Amino acid sequence: MFQTLPALPADPILGLMASYRADNNPNKIDLGIGIYKNENGDTPVMTAVKKAEDMIWHSQITKSYVGPTGSAEYNAVVAELLLGSTLNDSLGKRRITVQSPGGCGGLRLAAEFIKSANADATVWVSNPTWANHIPLLGSAGLKIEEYPYYDYDSHSVKFDEMIECLSKIGSGDVVLLHGCCHNPCGADLNPEQWQQIRDVALKQGFTVFIDLAYQGLGDGLEEDVYGTRLLAETLPELIIVSSCSKNFGLYRERTGAMTLISENEAAAAVATTQIAAGARAMYSMPPDHGAAIVQLILSDDALRSQWDTELTEMRDRINGLRAQFVRQIQSIGIDQDFSFIEREKGMFSFLGVNVDQVQSLVNDYSIYLVNSSRINVAGINDSNIEYLANSLAAVLKA
Ligand code: LMR
Repeated sequence: MFQTLPALPADPILGLMASYRADNNPNKIDLGIGIYKNENGDTPVMTAVKKAEDMIWHSQITKSYVGPTGSAEYNAVVAELLLGSTLNDSLGKRRITVQSPGGCGGLRLAAEFIKSANADATVWVSNPTWANHIPLLGSAGLKIEEYPYYDYDSHSVKFDEMIECLSKIGSGDVVLLHGCCHNPCGADLNPEQWQQIRDVALKQGFTVFIDLAYQGLGDGLEEDVYGTRLLAETLPELIIVSSCSKNFGLYRERTGAMTLISENEAAAAVATTQIAAGARAMYSMPPDHGAAIVQLILSDDALRSQWDTELTEMRDRINGLRAQFVRQIQSIGIDQDFSFIEREKGMFSFLGVNVDQVQSLVNDYSIYLVNSSRINVAGINDSNIEYLANSLAAVLKA
């Protein structure tokens, strides 16, 4: 029965991890998958996380089931991190949050929920968007269309075209936005643009769905949720899927959440039953360990402040690297303008080179990046920045 199945190509992002590991070149650089790396190229466990794990190890008395919607305490602290306490309180029971197995699990949970609410819904994603959005949403059976987003020439958001497209989308459809640190392009919406999107969403009646995987890694924990909070405050309905993979460094612990704001409390209560049933049908219940860590960190003043300091260091390092890389490129006389890298936010930017040039960077220089030319800025460090810029110069000249 299984013998006729065709082999599938490796995932465009995860495949790079394996190729990088197998490469013996001592100069190899991993700019592929979006994981934070420190100056030594390591992705250490955050100290706040280690301390929380230690406390959990000592205090946890059961490994009994948590239930399809996860830990109520985790859901509460995550909602407060996203929305802030004032807004969260004012939303009351219109807001529900459900723990999910990572951001991916949350996206898939949301996709199933959208499908049950409207099987004909089209989800509009940015062009470009994160490569895994399409399989995650598409395999739930949702139709997917794109709205214009990134202008590869000016390295900025094509906002007029985006708004023109959104102005034609009606109720029953869903518009997926990146809350901050756009993956893959790093070009974010500014406050005025978020306000215009809010106005169009109110006028057109489509549902907004925010993927928030990088809170705290752009401009700051509060700054990065400007748009999310604005929409949560004013729209009758909103879906937010958030991840603790990056900002808590909990990648393998699969720690995320789906938050839903409904028009009223009754609709939210019904939605909870639907989402719980969706979780039960797919994976029964989310894993606990990462969520227990996040819950403890966010509810303990000392741990929270330690985590905040570590997250700030990570953010500052990424933003510093952006500036340093642009200076390095300029200092070796590359004519092409790469200053946009300094304006963009989060882990990712497109280098803006073509696929042959990407292949040359991978095959001739052991510099691993996604075919779209997306780089993970956090993979740069003092020891590889010169090699990276020189290799880029060589590829641009070839
Ligand atoms: C990325 O975009 O590299 C990350 O979000 C990791 C992943 O799962 O693709």
